[in-house]
Amino acid sequence: MRNDDGQVIRLEDYRPTDFAVHHVDLVFRLGSETTEIEARLTLERRAGTDPAAPLVLDGDDLTLTGVWLGDEALAPPRFDATPDRLTLRELPAAGRFQVTIATRLDPAGNTQLMGLYRSGGVWCTQCEAEGFRRITYFLDRPDVLATYRVRVEADRAAAPVLLSNGNPQDAGDLGGGRHFAVWDDPHPKPSYLFALVAGDLDVLTDRFVTASGRDVALAIYTETGLSARAAYAMDALKRSMRWDEARFGREYDLDIFNIVAISDFNMGAMENKGLNVFNHKYVLLDPDTATDGDYAGVETVIAHEYFHNWTGNRITCRDWFQLCLKEGLTVYRDQEFSADERSAAVKRIASVHGLKAQQFPEDQGPLQHPVRPTRYREINNFYTATVYEKGAELVRMIATILGAERFRAGMDLYFARHDGDAATMEDFLACFEEAGGIDLSQFALWYHQAGTPTLTVRERFEDGRLTLGLEQDLQRGAAGTGTQPMHIPVRFGLVSEGGADLVAEPAAGGAEIDGDVIHLTTPSAEIVFEGLAERPLVSVLRGFSAPVTLRFEQRQEDRLRLARLDPDAFSRWRALTDLVGEHLRNASIARAAGESAAFDARIVDAIIASAEDERLEPALRAQMIAMPGEAEIARLVGQNVDPEAVHEAREAALTTLARRGEATFARVHEAPAATGPFSPDAAAVGRRALRNALLLPLSIASGSPDLAHAAFAASDNMTDRLAALTLLAHRFATEARTRSALDAFFERYERDALVIDKWFTLQATAPVPEAVEAAERLIGHPLFQLANPNRARAVIGGLATGNQRAFNRADGAGYRWVADQLVALDRLNPQTAARLATAFRSWRSFEPRRQSLAMEALRSLAARPDLSRDLADIVERTLA
Ligand code: ARG
Ligand code: ZN
Repeated sequence: MRNDDGQVIRLEDYRPTDFAVHHVDLVFRLGSETTEIEARLTLERRAGTDPAAPLVLDGDDLTLTGVWLGDEALAPPRFDATPDRLTLRELPAAGRFQVTIATRLDPAGNTQLMGLYRSGGVWCTQCEAEGFRRITYFLDRPDVLATYRVRVEADRAAAPVLLSNGNPQDAGDLGGGRHFAVWDDPHPKPSYLFALVAGDLDVLTDRFVTASGRDVALAIYTETGLSARAAYAMDALKRSMRWDEARFGREYDLDIFNIVAISDFNMGAMENKGLNVFNHKYVLLDPDTATDGDYAGVETVIAHEYFHNWTGNRITCRDWFQLCLKEGLTVYRDQEFSADERSAAVKRIASVHGLKAQQFPEDQGPLQHPVRPTRYREINNFYTATVYEKGAELVRMIATILGAERFRAGMDLYFARHDGDAATMEDFLACFEEAGGIDLSQFALWYHQAGTPTLTVRERFEDGRLTLGLEQDLQRGAAGTGTQPMHIPVRFGLVSEGGADLVAEPAAGGAEIDGDVIHLTTPSAEIVFEGLAERPLVSVLRGFSAPVTLRFEQRQEDRLRLARLDPDAFSRWRALTDLVGEHLRNASIARAAGESAAFDARIVDAIIASAEDERLEPALRAQMIAMPGEAEIARLVGQNVDPEAVHEAREAALTTLARRGEATFARVHEAPAATGPFSPDAAAVGRRALRNALLLPLSIASGSPDLAHAAFAASDNMTDRLAALTLLAHRFATEARTRSALDAFFERYERDALVIDKWFTLQATAPVPEAVEAAERLIGHPLFQLANPNRARAVIGGLATGNQRAFNRADGAGYRWVADQLVALDRLNPQTAARLATAFRSWRSFEPRRQSLAMEALRSLAARPDLSRDLADIVERTLA
């Protein structure tokens, strides 16, 4: 199926289409076997183009059943068609004309889940990035904007609900058990925002009145019987709508907003105009089946897709190289929303943690690419942590550099100037340059230069003078992008002995200081602060003001003090986490060499102290006592990683912490839990997080699963239940009682797909070498379905990305097993296979034996003649 001509798409080749599409009229006749589609396009040559140029439309795996120009049926050579292309010749040189194209599809056979497919009994679509061309031939690119009118016909019994974008216009009966609905979307949009859903769905409805008084009907559609579980998503939607009005002045613009939850979905969710389609994982919740993490995920993704209505839909991307224009910006917006709705520090720590776990390894390995790439083979492979999460960091830096007011002015200008446009990253930056009265040309390098810069900081204190030396370094990486010095905003504070921020005036220096931000724009700079009565504690990179690796050889006692009293909560967390991370890194290296490294008691005591520090909110305390995971430690080790040594070093540190902290942890754990019914509010979430974080050291200290069994038995919500069960499965796997707990959990939730995904994942992620064999047994389980992306991710992804020890097993069995699963999955769903294959991205950081085993597995994949373009692209770049 390799539809690969090895073709690379380049930014510099961009040029507008010869034809504009003004309007699209679609008719879908949905049938149980096949679906017939008629697309009538109203077209016009763009001024200044070749009047004889043919119209070349994109297709992907299409069956053409007819073509008309106006009312005239065409025959070759007026057109020629392949499954991937339709070329029409001798079209009018001027004025509007209509082309009608008929295609026939088999949605039930569409296992790629791109284009029109069936999930359960439900017809649904996914068109971003290039799925619309799997429905009909089209100029399937984001800079072709048209209004759409869609008529859907189906059997009423199979599909009582018929949805598409925009406002409902008409509906009625067709006789013979068939009915129809017509939808009209007045907002010109690119084809990737088209959507259609038809099926037997339940609905939860509500309404929202916008600031200017528009009454919007809200609806969330789910599988039958599950609409009650959409209540929290509905609440999050209304809060998102209100927040976007208050924070960015953005109102909703249609009379109706629909969300549909689908169980077979390649990604998280999709922002189709007026009809968001979601992986049901990001819609359906209740305390009995979803964890607090799931609640946070739903809130974030609901907000994200809603915010796309302005940043993505009303202003879209000129081409796919500009993906960060909508994704980075929208992630920034959803992060800000969550920060405002919950604790800002807790949210920021979670975001930075995610950035370091996902984006840093990507940026430091073979899949590295700039936030605004300049070439790709398969665009689906660029929906990455770099485009999304680093892209969000770049927007955050613009906000830091400009300050809140000028940032808002820049956003206002962007909305005013580009509403209705397909824009570029340069258009976006120009708005901030203009509104902020600032030159961002150096800042723009962040979009073009791949890799994580290193920021080195040095301090010297003498006679009341503090000198800070800053230096930036961007190693040339695989992406081969430049290494010019960037504009790095470094938020900082000078903290007194007593834990107060000092106000110190900088003397003349090499870097510009604006309030609490140092603007490093040169390779290195020095800043001198004078007239200091005492030597301050230097707190740098507060709030993680730039996505860099910080190297600061700060005295350990200063770091321990900052961990206790930095007025900036994020920096307290970072000070402690960095100390722990450094120990784990050194201990892993020592173990690999057959030595051991003691865990400094002062660091251990700092962790223990934070567990009962009443000044910290419980969620923050939970974050302070959580040890970095094995993958994070491997990233800190960086090269020649021995995953067994990492595992042992982490276990040893956990044991030290558990023994030394047992009394304290027990005290905190036993403090009466808040009473009352379950609530997903931030305070309750924090209390659960802290108690569950303590389960691990307490179980290690006692060497007994009793506490976890008690917690499992007493749990009245999924957060506590899953925390206890995971601990049992990961640490007491061989005990009969663990097996009974797993079985009891399975029986209770057998019919609940989202919970059964968790059951699969927690077994695939058990940090033992035998997890490879366990995963092999799991894919033989009657409820395992390779074709369902959530299930495939639960087991294959669980092992490949959630189980460093088993995936990187010394005998290579983990690599081989994952490679085999990828081959099978690629035949069904290339996009999901390619995504899972990125698990190999850090293979070169392991010790030589594992490197060669991973390389063998990758090469065996690369050698297959039938690989999809998606998977081949990832495998080949990973090997390059
Ligand atoms: N635009 C969607 C979102 O971030 C994601 C679409 C992902 N598409 C893909 N081909 N991977 O909200
Ligand atoms: Zn998005």
